[in-house]
Amino acid sequence: MDNSGIYVGLDIGTTSIKVIVAEYVKGQMNVIGVGREPSDGVNRGVIVDIDKASIAIKRAVESAERKANIQIHDVVAGIPANLLRIEPVRGMIAISDSSREIGNQDVVEVSNAASVHNLPPEQEVVDVLPDEFIVDGFDGIKDPRGMVGVRLEMNGGLITGPKTIIHNLKSAIRQAGLGLVDVVVSPLALGRTILNDGEQDFGTITLDLGAGQSTAAVIHDHHLKYTFVEQEGGQFVTKDISVVLNTSLDNAEQIKQQYGYAVADQASSDAFPVNVVGQNEPVAVTEKYLSEIIEARMEQILTNIKNN
Ligand SMILES: Nc1ncnc2c1ncn2[C@@H]1O[C@H](COP(=O)(O)OP(=O)(O)OP(=O)(O)O)[C@@H](O)[C@H]1O
Ligand SMILES: [Mg+2]
Repeated sequence: MDNSGIYVGLDIGTTSIKVIVAEYVKGQMNVIGVGREPSDGVNRGVIVDIDKASIAIKRAVESAERKANIQIHDVVAGIPANLLRIEPVRGMIAISDSSREIGNQDVVEVSNAASVHNLPPEQEVVDVLPDEFIVDGFDGIKDPRGMVGVRLEMNGGLITGPKTIIHNLKSAIRQAGLGLVDVVVSPLALGRTILNDGEQDFGTITLDLGAGQSTAAVIHDHHLKYTFVEQEGGQFVTKDISVVLNTSLDNAEQIKQQYGYAVADQASSDAFPVNVVGQNEPVAVTEKYLSEIIEARMEQILTNIKNN
């Protein structure tokens, strides 16, 4: 199968929207442009205002278009792990003509058969991830295409998610004037990108520390086995700083990035000026004090993830 061409990935985050444009040639993905713009209409990773989100998506896509010097029509979007469910499924189809080789269509059909499931009305299928195929009882087959047989089975994982979240994602992308060619589960895409083959095989936990949420995902045997979303992230660290130091959110964000450490022991006792609400003169705050505020929230987030 020839997959060459341009691929555009879209990641809609709570604080920023990222777009990556890549060209796939001769088996290699080359990034040719990226765009990143502030997000809008997104709360804790979920689109809550379709109009605002679509405008923000458009801005990020336009920025990537300028960098890559191409026109973007279609995107592959990441879907956050919020409320996604993964459950094992099994599908089976009969191949009517046993002399014919199993092809793409049969794989699609067996995967559809596996996803026919008693779903609650508010859930819908996001993806079916095959673990193995079984042709006439021979199991452990990764790709059955080109084989012959009378019975094709598939074992895999069914990923389902709340209809509302998926609907809002699709609507915002459509309203931004884009076509949605595929939806991928974000932690799975992340795992495939940052983990090497051994790490994906042996078993690894990835952590995506976002702004509005922090996601842990267990990847084992090259499959996404489990995800846990802690509904807190960097935005909460910024809010804590703003409340404790009595400074604006913008200031808090800036000093967090410039002077903050996640581990207070690493911070120095050097002081920096902070503009405090209701005072004319800036107040001196040490890096250590700032980092203690950050550490408290980070410890809470990471402990919660660990306990789950
Ligand atoms: N240098 C830095 N030091 C500390 N925090 C940072 C730094 N750079 C970014 N952040 C924080 O990371 C968060 C943004 O991360 P990211 O872009 O992954 O989130 P997002 O995708 O918009 O949100 P989410 O995935 O939760 O929907 C913000 O809270 C920001 O303050
Ligand atoms: Mg994110």
